[in-house]
Amino acid sequence: MDKPGRNDVCWCGSGKKYKKCHIEFDEKIEIFESQGHIVPDHTIIKTPQQIEKIKESAKINIAVLDYVAEHIKAGISTEEINRWVHDLTIKMGGIPATLGYEGFPKSVCTSINNEVCHGIPSEDVILKDGDIINVDCSTELNGFFSDSSRMFCIGNVSEENRRLVEVAKQSLQEGLKAVKPWGFLGDMGQAVNDYVKSNGYSVVREVGGHGIGLEFHEEPWVSYVTTKGTEMLMVPGMIFTIEPMINMGKADVFVDEENGWTIYTKDGKPSAQWEIQVLVTDDGYEIISY
Ligand code: MF3
Ligand code: CO
Repeated sequence: MDKPGRNDVCWCGSGKKYKKCHIEFDEKIEIFESQGHIVPDHTIIKTPQQIEKIKESAKINIAVLDYVAEHIKAGISTEEINRWVHDLTIKMGGIPATLGYEGFPKSVCTSINNEVCHGIPSEDVILKDGDIINVDCSTELNGFFSDSSRMFCIGNVSEENRRLVEVAKQSLQEGLKAVKPWGFLGDMGQAVNDYVKSNGYSVVREVGGHGIGLEFHEEPWVSYVTTKGTEMLMVPGMIFTIEPMINMGKADVFVDEENGWTIYTKDGKPSAQWEIQVLVTDDGYEIISY
């Protein structure tokens, strides 16, 4: 860890002397590190000013998903959703973060039924009665990032698919209960996984969540196939996503060979995902976008 001298200004941007600011915080982290735990470095611990900027970005992110929620219905194409997300994000002063990200061609991901994530919007994909769809929206505003996704049930969705969507949503709440400073990301991962398994479903292993804020994807990578007491230490100021992909059948997935992006369940059964962006606070957590 990069540590200032006791009388130097703190790394957090408060302007205070290190010895009057984060010195004890850093010493606490060092103890965990000496015990063999993975610990965050300062670059992923956000200052209050940065958190404010990230929340501004999140306002757009939430508004865009609210708009989608109000307008999504059977008969529209996923390209139409892409246009809504793109136009509203720009209108509100933001940039859709997925557009051009590692070559991703659209401003939102739309993943239907057996598509696990990273579905690419298209004029040819028309929503039909009974579909379940994840709309995953990522926003940049003045260099600050937000990311969340929701599921939508189109028309008459079967009882079993509705239950999948509900369990995926509730799994975030179970994970959140384990988000607190000086706990571990594995506590959250196990909480998600235990809940999903107890409902007879499985959690995708290969794709996970991520730190976010100053970049779209930051350290740490966040798995939901982890155990209590493992993975990175959570400290106040960290921001990451909880976005487990829940499969009705087996956890195995594969990537679309043609587009190189879209991930599907191997067994063809449906998959559901909700995503929230979470800040670790002094006494728990705060949801930044949803
Ligand atoms: N919102 C997705 C995530 O959770 C975006 C994946 S990158 C993309 O990280 F290019 F596929 F959009
Ligand atoms: Co994400």
